[in-house]
Parts: sequence; structure tokens; C-alpha cells
Amino acid sequence: MAAPSKILVFDSGLGGLTVYREIAAARPDADIVYVADDAAFPYNALAESALVARVVGLFDDLIAAHRPDLAVIACNTASTIALPALRQKFTLPLVGTVPAIKPACAASETRRVSVLGTEATVAREYTRALIRNFAQDCHVTLVGSKHLAPYVEAELRGAPASDAHIRAEIVPCFIDDGKRTDIVVLACTHYPLLLDRLTRLAPWPVNYIDPAPAIARRVLELLGPPTPSRRGSSRATFTSGRAPHAVLARFGIAPQPAAATGAK
Ligand code: DGL
Repeated sequence: MAAPSKILVFDSGLGGLTVYREIAAARPDADIVYVADDAAFPYNALAESALVARVVGLFDDLIAAHRPDLAVIACNTASTIALPALRQKFTLPLVGTVPAIKPACAASETRRVSVLGTEATVAREYTRALIRNFAQDCHVTLVGSKHLAPYVEAELRGAPASDAHIRAEIVPCFIDDGKRTDIVVLACTHYPLLLDRLTRLAPWPVNYIDPAPAIARRVLELLGPPTPSRRGSSRATFTSGRAPHAVLARFGIAPQPAAATGAK
């Protein structure tokens, strides 16, 4: 029988849990290690060269410590700048998370699509190239948010931001120039954790695109289907050493002792 698959899921904080839950549902037999580099959160605030050096350095240790069969960078802010360096250095399959501009522009009926991400993600050349290559005749509005990912972290840890604060971050996504935005790409893995509030606070109904199901499908393509009757394990580790136990319990993940993280 084939050895069980081991998957590393990586983010700067809790946002990658939106990707983790889809992967865990698709491959319930896999052993999954969730790593949050929360000591450096938010990645939005890091210079590009510092972010690449940090993520490549962490992956050196994490791959040596956990020997995963595949790693998922469940973070747009990291993927849109660090993927080439990671792919150059490591031979294991790496799945990145990048703004879902192609499916959004293919599906938009009003041809008005907005991309809501961190300031860093919307400024990246990677994101601009996705628009050049896949927007077709769509008008794409880029909205960089400094505060939304920190609001999500705060909300999950029991200190929710007000509706007014959240609304202020999302309102620039809603363009009405005779035709209204009908799709908002959630280009930060933290944002789907606020989906109910984003839906309630929207000036009009839109489809919010969460990339997690597509990422889970890509993992299945690369690793194959689950082994029936095997139940995998899930562990999470935080580079700060301060795992939020209540949040992890909601996602059915056990914290991993800091000594076993392999993270600096
Ligand atoms: N989850 C990250 C992303 O998808 C978080 C952003 C950050 O650390 O600034 O972009």
C-alpha cells in the first residue's frame, strides 16, 4: 500500500486555514502540518527581498523537519513574490495561491471585476501580469487593503473590528459606472474567514471568489485521490510559539509542540 501523503500548508497567520480545511476535506487520509509564520505577520509590511529571504529560509528548515510530499503556500502575499525562488531551490511539488483573476474574468457578466488583496499583492508584477493575460475585455479594479487581514486575525482571536471599519476596506471594490461590479476576487486567504460579514456589508450582492477549492483540486491532481479508510492527522505550529488553541480546535487541528516546528 502507498505511504500516506504528508502535506505542508503555510501562511503568515490564520488565513491559510481556509485553504487547509479544503485540503483536509479533499484528502482526509493525509497528514497535514499547518505552519503560520505569525512572528512576521503581516507579510504585507515586509519588503519583497526580506519576504523572499524569510520564506526560503523557513522552508529550508520546514522541509528538513517534516519531509512533506507537497507544500502549499496558502498566502497570496508570499506566493506572488516568493514562488520562483522556492521552485528554484526545492524539488518537491509546490502549490501557490495567486489572485483568481482568470476565472473571475471568464465568469463576470457585467465585465466589472475587483481584486481585493493586501497592498503588496495588488502591487506585484505577478498580479499585473495576470490582468494583462486574462482580463480579456473586463475592467479590473485592484483594491489593496492594509487592515483587513489584521482585522481577521483580531476577529478570530476574539476582538472583532466594527462593521464601519470592514465596510471602509471593501467599499472601493464596488464600482458602478452604469454597470456594477459582479465579482470580487478574495486575493488574501484571510478574507474568506469574514465571508458572512463581507456579504452582509456589500452595497449590492456580488460573488466573492475564494481560491481554496481550486487549490485543493490542484493538490488532488498532484497527489492523487485519498486512501480509503485511512484517517490522517493535522498539526499546527506558529513561529511565535503562541498557537491560538481555541481557533485551532474550531478547525480540528492540534497544536504541535514548538520544539518540533523546524521554524526559526
Ligand atoms: N494570508 C495572506 C495572504 O493571502 C496574508 C497577508 C499578510 O500576511 O499580510 O495574502
